[in-house]
Amino acid sequence: MAVIPIALAGREYEVRIGAGLLANLAQECGALLRKDTVPIVTDRNVAQHWRETVGKSLEAIGKQAVWYVVEPGEGAKSWIGLQELTDWLLAQNVERGDHVIALGGGVVGDLTGFACSILKRGCGFIQIPTSLLAQVDSSVGGKTAINTGAGKNLIGAFHQPSLVLADLDCLETLPPREMRAGYAEVIKYGILGDADFFTWLEAMGPRVIARDPEPLEMAVATSVQAKARIVAEDEKELSGTRALLNLGHTFGHALEAETGFSDRLLHGEAVALGMVLAARYSARRGELSEQDAARIASAIGASGLPSKLGELGLDCDGSTLTDHMLHDKKMDAGTLPFILLKGIGEAYLARDVDLADVARFLDEELSR
Ligand code: GLY
Repeated sequence: MAVIPIALAGREYEVRIGAGLLANLAQECGALLRKDTVPIVTDRNVAQHWRETVGKSLEAIGKQAVWYVVEPGEGAKSWIGLQELTDWLLAQNVERGDHVIALGGGVVGDLTGFACSILKRGCGFIQIPTSLLAQVDSSVGGKTAINTGAGKNLIGAFHQPSLVLADLDCLETLPPREMRAGYAEVIKYGILGDADFFTWLEAMGPRVIARDPEPLEMAVATSVQAKARIVAEDEKELSGTRALLNLGHTFGHALEAETGFSDRLLHGEAVALGMVLAARYSARRGELSEQDAARIASAIGASGLPSKLGELGLDCDGSTLTDHMLHDKKMDAGTLPFILLKGIGEAYLARDVDLADVARFLDEELSR
């Protein structure tokens, strides 16, 4: 098992990564569970696979799980979903010193974390991420949110969990497409800040995606270590360091918006293609070599993730995509910062990007 500390003064916690954690909750988090009943939020798919294991694991220490099960999908991250969950937590008499368990992917983690940030002005919670994307990204670092009619994740709070348990066994039941989409966030850490990790993934990526236990643990642990460093340096995304995690997300956001935030393009797939576009645009600006941009596109394509904009079959032009970017929550004082590359492992925040130039670039990419 890998144990990665998140060093936030007064709110430090561990991310534990390994197999068999859910079957051993007594040892992993028993000390944080002070009452006989343990509120657990999950979704229907995850409940189907893990409810029994978790229930038994808690019974072993004389605790009873009480379940709140949402429907899978972003629909749960709504005002109404938040109201229903907070009402339920109040009915369970959850107090500030208690811990709620979020057992699921990013939707369950974001919704539960936000509910816990406001319940009685903040109660504890434990993240047990069950998707690769949640294990390497959304469960770590305390971003919580719901969606509104105005956009995704626009209402939320920074609220750090007390513990993150990334059980690699959970990934065994993940559909291959979700596994690949999560892998986009893994390779992102290499592209943005760790050239050696990127080179390792070029060789080992297929084994990570195939869930080969050793490379999988190594990939998750290296990703979480990278995120831990970034979060410790810039918890609230103020200095620009945490913003580097948005590599591929501005282009990706436009693609998700154009495809209606639907199953046509999963978030991780949009980020994957977004990273290729960020690399190719960096090369167009003369900041990244054409060879490195090609290496990034090829590593992403070889993982079974989309790497060519022209192959998405979008019926739009570049300016339609840049218009979507203007509604991105990353807009700052009327400008849109982009995360671009000076090399593999050398992402930086560019504040001088001209959207009309991006639109021309996207027109070229759409017809490639
Ligand atoms: N998912 C990006 C971040 O946690 O900042």
